Amino acid sequence: MLAIIILAAGGGTRMKSRLPKVLHCIAGKPLIHHVLETAKKLTPDKLVVVLGHEKNQVEPYVADIVHEVACQDNQLGTAHAVNQALPLLKGFSGDAVILYGDTPLIKEETISRLIKHRQQKDCSVVLATMNIDNPTGYGRVIRNGSGDVLKIVEEKDATEKERQITEVNTGIYCFSYNTLLENIDKVSNNNEQNEYYLTDVISLLVSSGKKVTAEIIDSNQALGVNSRKDLSIVSKIIRKEINEKLMASGVTLEDPATAYVEESVIIGSDTKVGPNVTIEGKTVIEGNCIIGANTHIKDSLVKEGAKITNSYITEAEIGKNAAIGPFSHLRPGTVVKEDVKVGAYSEIKKSTIGKNSKVPHLSYIGDSDIGENVNVGAGTVTCNYDGKHKHKTEIKDDAFIGSDTMLIAPIKVGKGSYTGAGSVLTEDVPDDSLALERSKQKNIKGWAKKKG
Ligand code: UD1
Ligand code: MG
Repeated sequence: MLAIIILAAGGGTRMKSRLPKVLHCIAGKPLIHHVLETAKKLTPDKLVVVLGHEKNQVEPYVADIVHEVACQDNQLGTAHAVNQALPLLKGFSGDAVILYGDTPLIKEETISRLIKHRQQKDCSVVLATMNIDNPTGYGRVIRNGSGDVLKIVEEKDATEKERQITEVNTGIYCFSYNTLLENIDKVSNNNEQNEYYLTDVISLLVSSGKKVTAEIIDSNQALGVNSRKDLSIVSKIIRKEINEKLMASGVTLEDPATAYVEESVIIGSDTKVGPNVTIEGKTVIEGNCIIGANTHIKDSLVKEGAKITNSYITEAEIGKNAAIGPFSHLRPGTVVKEDVKVGAYSEIKKSTIGKNSKVPHLSYIGDSDIGENVNVGAGTVTCNYDGKHKHKTEIKDDAFIGSDTMLIAPIKVGKGSYTGAGSVLTEDVPDDSLALERSKQKNIKGWAKKKG
């Protein structure tokens, strides 16, 4: 049986934020969700999170994922935090894994390795340690001459000599639950910080002759987030992992250092992603697409062969071989079909643009249904809002909308019809017609010379 206890009651004061630390995001997800998702992969029989500081803000983010939420009203130390979770595990026996809510990069395989190690060697605890160049702030791992772990000493309690040790405690452990239960109440707060240290359980076990082992893990996985700087370091690592997976699957990233792709995004092979691109949420980009520099895409579907240049796209669907941008803004509810062209400074919202149609320059299309092979001239506006309500515009197949046409919705332009440039249209246009709304031009000969 496996229980996982995630400690997340601490304050996170160094973040200098109104948002609780574990709700800060990396790669689009709160820190605590990264840990919870990893924990879930191990299918624990019990998954408990310990909350305290800003509990009310954090709880909604975890309530549906964990089995139980334990509460630590006062943050009296890591042992005290674990102790709040233990009553929720009554009757449990087996492995108890401890993770931190602010240590998001730990991998499922690493935790499995700790569990296996504990079971195979029948230890009372396997603690995960790491070697780092700068151990400042971490608990140091003290071993005897034969390399056995004796204790962990917190930075504030360490001697000058102990502080030189570069093997540190990651805070991740796999305990035998019963041993943990038997020893946790023996921990005192007689130390520099007057806290109940979970690390003290280690020395208690060693002194009572129990088997304690340490497993050295990849230090990148155990980086904790305590400050905004840590957040950026951890973000960079996770982005690198996501980007390397994408490249291995056949996606070209012209500059991986500036490709911001969330884990949830799917990208097909032979798609090229330019520099400074952000792709978020439930976005799917099929193969052979070009996602040009500075593009931002969220929760959208981009079909095979589409080309997007420097554009901003949210909750939209882009058809096969469509060309978008530069500087297009596709807003929620936009469906652009196959071979469509949307060009510079065109904004589209809640509208369908039929196959092979074009909105190439400076247009606003909202609440509209545009058919196939339609040309929308530069500067066209579907005037969809009367100040109170939104109205629909329908433009049928093969229509040609002259430049700077104002379509005052609700309005329909019939199949194959034309609108004259500069027209302000308030009435439906029948099929195969020309709609012209424009005053007659007057030329005053010689006027300029007379003006002097
Ligand atoms: C802890 C370890 C240290 C280790 C380091 C790794 C102890 C005494 N020290 O130190 O050996 O090198 O982690 O990052 O365990 N928390 C609570 N309630 C509390 C205190 C902490 O839930 O009362 C939670 C925090 O939210 C955090 C985790 O426990 O998720 C670690 O707490 P933190 O105060 O950061 O411990 P460190 O001093 O970093
Ligand atoms: Mg810490």
